[in-house]
Amino acid sequence: MDRRERIAALIREELQGLPEETHDASLGMPLQVMPYGADEVIAALNCMLSTYVTMGAEVRRFEAAWAAYCGAEHAVMVNSGSSANLIALAALVAAGQLQPGDEVLVPAVAWSTSLFPIAQVGLVPVMVDVEPDTLCLDVAKAKAAMTPRTKAALLVHLMGQPGDVAGLEALGLTVVEDACAAPGAERGGRRVGRRG
Ligand SMILES: Cc1ncc(COP(=O)(O)O)c(C=O)c1O
Repeated sequence: MDRRERIAALIREELQGLPEETHDASLGMPLQVMPYGADEVIAALNCMLSTYVTMGAEVRRFEAAWAAYCGAEHAVMVNSGSSANLIALAALVAAGQLQPGDEVLVPAVAWSTSLFPIAQVGLVPVMVDVEPDTLCLDVAKAKAAMTPRTKAALLVHLMGQPGDVAGLEALGLTVVEDACAAPGAERGGRRVGRRG
């Protein structure tokens, strides 16, 4: 057994028998479940020990696997969901598809960095209410909120629920999807995050 294998064996031993759930089930929905195991700890440690912790072979492997899972042509890994939203909007402005001052519809129930990147790149966020059943942007209300300056919508797929990408596109809007809170959710046979 080489040194790395010995380290891996120690980690497996250390994590063996760890409860998957660290919450008293009698209290209802768990606040925390164990989101990783020995495989993930070993993979993370191997990256750190290799000193290659950004944009290396592991990231490329993950991007390819994630793109395939989502049915997308490409996936680009970034450090956080906030950065993903910022990069998507900044790219649309840099490409000239959106102009500073354009209005972007954003759901009133979302995450702070679903909204802030819109303002950060010089666009104007306009809050629109959500559907009570999905908690996603309400397309009828989006339509009612549109002005001649409304060019895009930042659709947040919330709490595992997929929002209506096609409905917003049918309004002629450029749709950016924030799928941070619903990876793997599907609507109309399409995984969220694939289109916008
Ligand atoms: C819908 C949504 N968008 C964006 C974010 C921001 O992600 P991060 O904390 O990785 O920046 C979150 C975080 O919970 C989120 O729930």
